[in-house]
Amino acid sequence: MILGAGAVATIIALSVVYSQEMAKNQDGGTPTKPPATAAPSNEPWDKYRLPKSLLPQQYNVTLWPRLLPDPTGLYIFTGETTVEFKCVEDTDLILIHSNKLNYSDSAHLTSVDSGVEAPSIKSRFLQIETQYLVLQLDGKLVKDHMYQLHTKFTGELADDLGGFYRSEYYEDGVKKVVATTQMQPTDARKAFPCFDEPAMKAVFHITLIHDIGTVALSNGEQKETSSVVIEGQHVQKTAFGPTEKMSTYLLAFIVSDFAQINNTIDDVLIRIFARKPAIDAGQGQYALNKTGPILKFFEGYYSSKYPLPKSDQIALPDFNAGAMENWGLITYRETALLYDESFSSNSNKERIATIIAHELAHMWFGNLVTLRWWNDLWLNEGFASYVEYLGAANAEPDWNITDLIVLNDVHRVFAVDALTSSHPLSSKEEDIQRPAQISELFDAISYSKGASVLRMLSDFLTEGVFTQGLTSYLNTFAFGNAVYTDLWEHLQMAVNNTGTDLPNSVNNIMNTWVLQMGFPVVTIDTQTGGISQKHFLLDPDSTVTVESPFNYEWIVPIKWMKTGVIHPTIQWLKNKSDTVHEMKTSGPSEWVLANLNVLGYYRVNYDQGNWDRLLIALRDNHSSIPVINRAQLVDDAFNLARAKIIPTVLALETTKYLTEERDYVPWKSAVNNLDFFYLMFDRSEVYGPMQNYLMKQITPLFTYYKNTTGNWSTIPAGHMDQYNQVNAISMACRTGLEECSTLTKTWFKQWMDTNTNRIHPNLRSTVYCNAIAAGGAKEWEFAWSQFQKATIASEAEKLRSALSCSKQPWLLNRYLEYTLNSTLIRKQDATSTIVSIASNVAGQSLAWDFVRARWTYIFNEYGGGSFSFSNLINGVTKRFSTEYELQQLKQFKADNSEVGFGSGTLALDQSIERTISNIKWITENKQNVMNWFKAELKLYEASS
Ligand SMILES: *[C@@H]1O[C@H](CO)[C@@H](O)[C@H](O)[C@H]1NC(C)=O
Ligand SMILES: *[C@@H]1O[C@H](CO)[C@@H](O)[C@H](O)[C@H]1NC(C)=O
Ligand SMILES: *[C@@H]1O[C@H](CO)[C@@H](O)[C@H](O)[C@H]1NC(C)=O
Ligand SMILES: *[C@@H]1O[C@H](CO)[C@@H](O)[C@H](O)[C@H]1NC(C)=O
Ligand SMILES: *[C@@H]1O[C@H](CO)[C@@H](O)[C@H](O)[C@H]1NC(C)=O
Ligand SMILES: [Zn+2]
Repeated sequence: MILGAGAVATIIALSVVYSQEMAKNQDGGTPTKPPATAAPSNEPWDKYRLPKSLLPQQYNVTLWPRLLPDPTGLYIFTGETTVEFKCVEDTDLILIHSNKLNYSDSAHLTSVDSGVEAPSIKSRFLQIETQYLVLQLDGKLVKDHMYQLHTKFTGELADDLGGFYRSEYYEDGVKKVVATTQMQPTDARKAFPCFDEPAMKAVFHITLIHDIGTVALSNGEQKETSSVVIEGQHVQKTAFGPTEKMSTYLLAFIVSDFAQINNTIDDVLIRIFARKPAIDAGQGQYALNKTGPILKFFEGYYSSKYPLPKSDQIALPDFNAGAMENWGLITYRETALLYDESFSSNSNKERIATIIAHELAHMWFGNLVTLRWWNDLWLNEGFASYVEYLGAANAEPDWNITDLIVLNDVHRVFAVDALTSSHPLSSKEEDIQRPAQISELFDAISYSKGASVLRMLSDFLTEGVFTQGLTSYLNTFAFGNAVYTDLWEHLQMAVNNTGTDLPNSVNNIMNTWVLQMGFPVVTIDTQTGGISQKHFLLDPDSTVTVESPFNYEWIVPIKWMKTGVIHPTIQWLKNKSDTVHEMKTSGPSEWVLANLNVLGYYRVNYDQGNWDRLLIALRDNHSSIPVINRAQLVDDAFNLARAKIIPTVLALETTKYLTEERDYVPWKSAVNNLDFFYLMFDRSEVYGPMQNYLMKQITPLFTYYKNTTGNWSTIPAGHMDQYNQVNAISMACRTGLEECSTLTKTWFKQWMDTNTNRIHPNLRSTVYCNAIAAGGAKEWEFAWSQFQKATIASEAEKLRSALSCSKQPWLLNRYLEYTLNSTLIRKQDATSTIVSIASNVAGQSLAWDFVRARWTYIFNEYGGGSFSFSNLINGVTKRFSTEYELQQLKQFKADNSEVGFGSGTLALDQSIERTISNIKWITENKQNVMNWFKAELKLYEASS
């Protein structure tokens, strides 16, 4: 699964249990066990993990989703299933997962083996908390015999984005309903009773009953479709061929009237499904073009043939995550699959290529071989998040896209993993039991840190050794399950085979990265050649309370260069400190630069002399430093300064050379770090000098793009250049460069005047935002009407975000009101809209007042659904940096303690902690920073 854009926390909502709904959804026939009031019982049905007595072999599942409401207004589905399982330990109890399903008649148990009688069912009940259908038998199931359990059931086809659910949209003014699924992690049990754990692999024979004229899809190939009459209704019955042996969380069932396009590559049928108007407009074509080549790439990378006869991909109007790797039927948000040249930016296009690559990578890693339990989720997601760059780079070789992992994953997760509240990649199996605990694992650590350490591993092993081990891992565990150390073992075999030189075993090296949280800062003293490591903490005053088996020391691979010359071998730092004589420098021009291309998961600090020489190298000849390392120097310096390891002014010094910088990655790194300065200072007297300094820094880049694009009449050819053009415009406008705001206003006005949008899709987000910021009600209303008319989700998303850029309090307040009206803003988009209003300095206090005033309402209305309270609370408070704001936050916490904060509880405490540390940071840095900006401006004025 890939998460929604910037919405790491929303995923938690996927398995939120709707306790009230469940209560009213009980069937008459199967009683619910009264909740235990005494001490937790030790009955097997009170445990979250299945007993080991029964192993499913195959299921026959027939489901009939109703796309029209029943007379009471409820959307439902009915189903019938037979599961055949093997008894591996005598037992008189059957536990099978079931959540929010009603069972209409009694379950039947039969024996498959002749001569063996099945015991009869003595009693049955639903255990709500642990989500089981419990059957107690009057005799034993006997070891090594096969049995079949047959049930009939009904469930609600709710719009809750989990299990078997419904998505709605309008086509030509007509409401349409799609029945679709999202099973991962624990919602297959909401569609039919099943042994819902990833190691309980089985073969599935799926049949869907659906209205004539609709299309039914599932993991397998469609085998036969017949017209039948059931309960007096003329319907179609589509049976799918048996699946491979697979986990329940990878199942998918979809009924829609979507259209499709297709092609076939080496006998694999590839289809892209979407709303008919989207397909007719060609919006699936890019995905179709890229899927085949990416599949071929992974076949080569894994040395393993794509295991299925078909690969369907479908874009859904309502989808909580970004995409889901159901085996053979991948589901996506529309923005993650649909592309239209006249609306989509290069960034939209890149997102499509990388998400397709991510999901296709899972077809082997995750689906063919599945981790045994959710505690190893980080390996599944980290792996796909790493190789998605390789797949996308293969599909779009001109983009240099593999560089972006440093910005998107390494730097992004450094910010989280440098806090004492972080956690190790790996969890203990016994610590991950409940659905909510499983959902919590879908976070930046699993995805981005997982990707970062696997990239480091692949690099120090070399790609050839890495893929050799990978292939043998996949071959060994195909159609089965593994644990993360199994991968290490197969990599070790490849290391042994090839005679690769390592300082320790793969397992021992990787344990230091996997079993303890955080990462080191490596300090190199070029006067002595001394190198050392220390756990990097963003807040130097925080204390780590969790013990680590390795004392927060890592086995660190260091690739490095001296004055532009790459050292031929990896320097391993295996202890707290070491001496490397080659790292000594002599003379005023020699410098050392470590962690080349940021392939290692750590930060680097140097003695002041080396920093000074690196700054001179940046100033005089920045291309002597590799482009990714220029981004690293900026990011490391700013973060080392936050941690009080180096002075803040040294970090600011790294921005001086930017007048000469034309590459995207270093610029983006600088912009990301300056965002913190904007948040801290955009309401204080530092703002003026800071703006003037940054305007001076960005103007050359702005002028460069103006000149190379014929006064903005063309778009740069390179992908990275296209991104940097956007940086140039958004930063220039942000610093108040007159020419920039005139430009964006003019373009937007042309659109309003002519009703023809000539703004290039790449530039739309920033142009819309700046024009709406500079404009008034007329501009806002125009954009709002365009938002409502948008025919492609990515265009709607650009407008929705830009509408929050207004400087008019009344417009922002009205927009805030819209966010709680789901006919105006889809529920899935409410949080991110409020957060983008708060990130506008003019909207900050409005959004905070709004959230405070509406807390009870927001909490009750959106409590169980797709609303991310942690994103919301973090988003509206990230600028907080005064005593007054701190008091307000504490008051907010006290005032609402009865209502509660749900998934935002931790975020609220983190906000308080962050506000305190911001107050400290401002106190310590404000004067220095202001003096530095002023001095730079004076120097500049004196010289020009
Ligand atoms: C399950 O479905 C398969 C394929 O349609 C069929 O051959 C088999 O008899 C079914 N088994 C049961 C127990 O219904
Ligand atoms: C592929 O698309 C063509 C053209 O739309 C259609 O005629 C054909 O039935 C499709 N093939 C499959 C296997 O879906
Ligand atoms: C898809 O590929 C075709 C054939 O190579 C090409 O003409 C078309 O422009 C491509 N479409 C997109 C959206 O990439
Ligand atoms: C790799 O070689 C080492 C040293 O010879 C040996 O101890 C180890 O068992 C081997 N590991 C594997 C997985 O083959
Ligand atoms: C990609 O990287 C190569 C070498 O690293 C460079 O020559 C090329 O210009 C880059 N392309 C783009 C589009 O940035
Ligand atoms: Zn994934």
